[in-house]
Parts: sequence; structure tokens; C-alpha cells
Amino acid sequence: MCGIMGFSGNLKNESSVGVVLNGLKSLEYRGYDSSGIAYYDNDDRLIKYIKKAGKLINLSNEFSCALPLNSDVAIGHIRWATHGRPTDENAHPHIDCSGNIAIVHNGIIENYAALKNKLIKKGHRFITETDSEVIAHLIEDYINAGKSFYEAVRLTSACLLGAFAILALDGTSKSIAAVKFGPPLVLAQKGNNLYVASDISPLIEYTNDVIYLKNSEIAHFHEGKLDITTFKGKKVNKTITKIDWDASRAAKSGFSHFMQKEIFEQPARILDAFSSRVMLKEGIKDNVISLNKIKMKRAKKGFNENTKNNSFNDVFAGLDISLEGLKLTKNDIVNSPKIVFIACGSSYYASLAIKYMMETICGLPVIVEYGSEFRYENFPISQNDIFVGISQSGETADTNSALEVAKAKRAKILSITNVPGSQITGLSNKGVIYTHAGPEIGVASTKAFTTQLLCGLLLALYVGEKSGLMPRYQWLNSQNIFKNLVELPKKMEKILFMDETLKDIAKKYYKSGNFLYMGRGILYPIALEGALKLKEISYIHAEGYPAGEMKHGPIALVDENMPVLFLLSNNMLAPKTISNIEEIKARGGKVIAVADYEPEIDGLSDLIRIPETIEVLSPVLYTVPLQLFAYHIAALKGTDIDQPRNLAKSVTVE
Ligand code: G6P
Repeated sequence: MCGIMGFSGNLKNESSVGVVLNGLKSLEYRGYDSSGIAYYDNDDRLIKYIKKAGKLINLSNEFSCALPLNSDVAIGHIRWATHGRPTDENAHPHIDCSGNIAIVHNGIIENYAALKNKLIKKGHRFITETDSEVIAHLIEDYINAGKSFYEAVRLTSACLLGAFAILALDGTSKSIAAVKFGPPLVLAQKGNNLYVASDISPLIEYTNDVIYLKNSEIAHFHEGKLDITTFKGKKVNKTITKIDWDASRAAKSGFSHFMQKEIFEQPARILDAFSSRVMLKEGIKDNVISLNKIKMKRAKKGFNENTKNNSFNDVFAGLDISLEGLKLTKNDIVNSPKIVFIACGSSYYASLAIKYMMETICGLPVIVEYGSEFRYENFPISQNDIFVGISQSGETADTNSALEVAKAKRAKILSITNVPGSQITGLSNKGVIYTHAGPEIGVASTKAFTTQLLCGLLLALYVGEKSGLMPRYQWLNSQNIFKNLVELPKKMEKILFMDETLKDIAKKYYKSGNFLYMGRGILYPIALEGALKLKEISYIHAEGYPAGEMKHGPIALVDENMPVLFLLSNNMLAPKTISNIEEIKARGGKVIAVADYEPEIDGLSDLIRIPETIEVLSPVLYTVPLQLFAYHIAALKGTDIDQPRNLAKSVTVE
């Protein structure tokens, strides 16, 4: 939701404007309805700026003849409009009346109207319809009152309500200030050069050592010196975080779109997510007595672990799950009345599948909540509850605010995220599980989603093992899980080899106006995710539904123009889902089935046959053909796959 980038320093072969423009390219996934850059022109000794509505290319074209070479400091912005239409005028940067202060802003200033009225009364002239412009005038106002640039920024920050990451450029001192309250800001200093951006993707080209600003912090960079303080002016010493992403991962590497590249990367990323974390364990029987004790204790509390039916010794899963940085203790787990997952978008659907994994593996009750709903509900929170936030970016405002609500009630918080140092990590008092998916640039989530599923499974195994709640089913034994995990990347590759087949199927359906996706059990969330992928990038209306609910509504939509995609697995629910398929066929609907076996169904329009795995891993495999299908439909329709209209990758405002 808007991206900001700033640079101050001196590079031999590149101008500050070039660095910022380049950085904005990496941030384009955050917003793409307009963009702009302000820089200090050393020759003319003043701030100049260019802003353009539309995609970043419109701004780049403005600089196509020549980049301003004699400039050491610049700030830039890529916008996802909240206040004011996406016009040239409303694009950032915003400039004060004197032309000496330029700002870019990511977030929302909730009290802008009151501030604006005050400033207008003092004679400030406003040009745009945005909330952000007020920041430039407020800084100017403090400078007019005799404050230094840094002091003016500090006092301005303290006046603002809402969520804001701001870069301000001062023409007098040629310095920049970065302010964070809500949306992310990352800094990197290399010698006398300072880079600052909304996320690490534009920085990793220059360095892997970054500094994350925390809320209520200001960084001021002047003549090669970086000072970081709080909004109250207290100096802060920051630690440097090492990022293990490399710059080449943020390139398309020969694929037509980032999304396509990220789909094809998944076998490797899945391997990264589990390979160093899961080992088979020997000598497991020693644990059995204490585990049974825990079960008896829980049985007294009313949990039904179904111990009698399990051959405990045989099926106890001897897996060593090491989740670095996770601080959940056995007591935390055994005493927790419930586990609550909080997430938005695809991460929410991943949570729904993980709920199924946790309930199957640990028998603990799991609740999944949208961040945006949870924060305004009267949800009963106990300090023994375990909250798990799932967020690719770690910056989704609704997810983080909901976790803050739980944290305020002293609940235990952990998170699954892809971005080291992101806001969610600071909220997670019980640790973080990194998905290790690397930078995900395509707005529609792919590899982040499948690695979330995998990390959710690791969490379920960890919780199950640590608490002794694990062995509920015979098929959940250690060898079986381990074997299937190890085989997973190869099976994903097999599905990726079916790319051409999926393209051919897409050709049959890309003109459809609507789609239904049906799944049951653990595959129901994958039906939701498949439908979401199609909606997001091809703009075809698609609904995901639990197949068992089909008769309660969606069947009314079925006719020869309604393709219905079923996720079918060879388990006890298969006969029921096959009956649903027959019901669709009887009404003339076209049925596409994704199945891990050869179902005996006549008259399927298309069958996508995928490899078999254990149920708790099946969501990872079923997701891949749905991603490819959505991708090819969107490609055939010619939509903007990596930057679908109206969407943004991280939604850092409410
Ligand atoms: C946006 C993105 C989605 C993403 C959701 C949650 O809507 O377009 O792809 O799933 O935010 O993002 P998070 O970073 O919290 O996973």
C-alpha cells in the first residue's frame, strides 16, 4: 500500500534519482496508480520534483532523456490511492509553500482535516486532495517558528494520528528524515550513503545489512551521519539485521512474470522451509510414559484424545522438529484452552488449512479469524491462549492490530512470516517461524502461501510432539510424514511439468464469466485460495465453496456456462464429492476435477491428475495446479498479472 524510497549520498556512476527510480521498480507491487520523485538539484540549488499518474513507466519516461546527474539526495513514492484520486497532482511527493520541503508518505493521516484547517488559517496553501500534503506544511510551519529541520519533523510526527511512514527532504540542509509509525521502513547505510525504503527488496542490491525502524522512531541523515531518535527525541542505538536474500531472487530470471517465476520456484522454497528443520528421531519409546501422563491430565480437563484406539507405542512420531527462535513451552501448549490464528487474504486461507492440520495432529481446538474482524469483535481472550499471526509481509495492518489486541490481554503470540524484522516479528513474544520463501514480488501470493502451509504443518508437528498430543491416527507416524515431506518437492515438480496441459485447459475456459471451486475438509481452504487466485489476476468472478454446501445455494447458479472445479482426494469423502460432481453434470455444468487418483466418473470435462501424498501435505500439492490454471487464464486474457488492478501486495492501512 504505497512504497517509498530515499537515497542520500554520492555514487560514482549513478545519480540519486537513478537509485530512487530503480528502488521504486522493486516496490511497484505495493501500489501502482501514480508515482513521483523529488530531488535536490545541486546546480540550481533547489528541490525539483516530477510526479505522474499511472504506472511507474510514466515517471521513468519523464527521465528517459537524461537523469539529473548533479543531485545527492532524492525521495520517491509509488502510490495506492486512499485520499484523493490517482492524478498527477495527488501523486507524491508533496511540497510545502516555500518549495523547500518535500515529503512522501505511506499510510493514512486520520486527523489531517483538523490540521489542514489550522494551517490554512495560518496562510498555508494546499494544492492536492490528499491527507499527506498536511505533513509538508506542518514541517514548514515548525521551521517558520524557528525549529531545525529535524526538530520540525519530530514535532510534526508527534502531531499526527493514524499510520505513517514518511520521508522528508529538506532543501536547506540537504538532509533527509525518515519517520515510522505503522507502515514499515528499512534503512541501510553503506559508507556515506544512506538508502531507505518500505521494504528490503530495493536495498539488497546494495547491502545485506539493514536497520529496521520501530514505531515512533525518526532517522535523520545529514552529511553522512545517521542519527536515530524516538518521537520524544531520545537517542536510540539500533542493531543491524543481516538479510539472507540475494538480489537475483528479486529478478524474473527469464520468466514472463514474477508470479510465474514464483510458482516454479516452489519446490526449492518448500525444501528450504523444511530441510534443516525436520529429522527422524531414534529411541522414541522412552517418551511414552510421560506423554501418557500429559494425556491423562488433559483428559481430566475434558479433552478427548481418543487414546484407547491408538497403539501409542507404534505410532508415536519420532520427528525432531527444530523451529529456531520458537519459545513455546510444553506448559504453554498443555495449558492453552485454544489456539487462534489471525490473518488476511491468502494467509487467512493458509490458516484455515493449518487449523485442519493442528486439529488432526494435536487435537487442540483452533479458531481462525480475519484480522480486520477480530480487532472489533468481543472475542474472549485468555492469557493462556496461543495466538498465531500469519502474514507474508508481516506488515498487514489488520493482522498486526488484532495481534496487538491479544498481546494487550497478555496472550502468547507467535507468527509465521516471510519477512525478517517485519512488524509482526516485534509482536511475537513466543517467536517467529520464517517461511524462507525469499522475496515475493507478484501481488498474488504463490510461494509464500505454500511455504506458509508447510510451516503451519511444522508448527502442528512441533506442538504435537512437544505436548505429546500427536499420535491420533495410524498414518501420522514419523516415517510416513518424513517420507512424504522429502518427496514433496519432486511431486510439486511433476505438477509443474503439467504446465502445457494446464495452459490447454485454460484455453477452454478463459472466456467464462464465472467459476465455482469446490473442496472438502482440508481441501476446502484450497478451493477458496484457487478461486481467489483466479479473481485476483484474471478478474473472473470465482467462488470457493465446501462441496457439501453446494446444495445450499451455489447449485442454483449451475448451467452449461458455469464451470465447476472440484478438488478430489482418494479418501472417505471421495464418494460424497463424486455425488456432487454427478449433480453438477446432471444440470449441464462443466466439471474440471483435480484428483490424486483416477476417479471413476464419466463425462468429466477435464481431469488434472496430481501425485498422491498424506492428507496434511495435500494442500501444498493441490494449490499448484490452481495457481498455474489462474496464471494461464490471466495470461490469455492479457491482464496485468504481477500488478492486478486495484490490489496491493501489503495492505498497511486499515
Ligand atoms: C494483500 C495481498 C494478498 C495477501 C494479503 C495478506 O491482499 O494482495 O496476496 O494474501 O494482502 O498479506 P500478508 O502479507 O499479511 O500475508
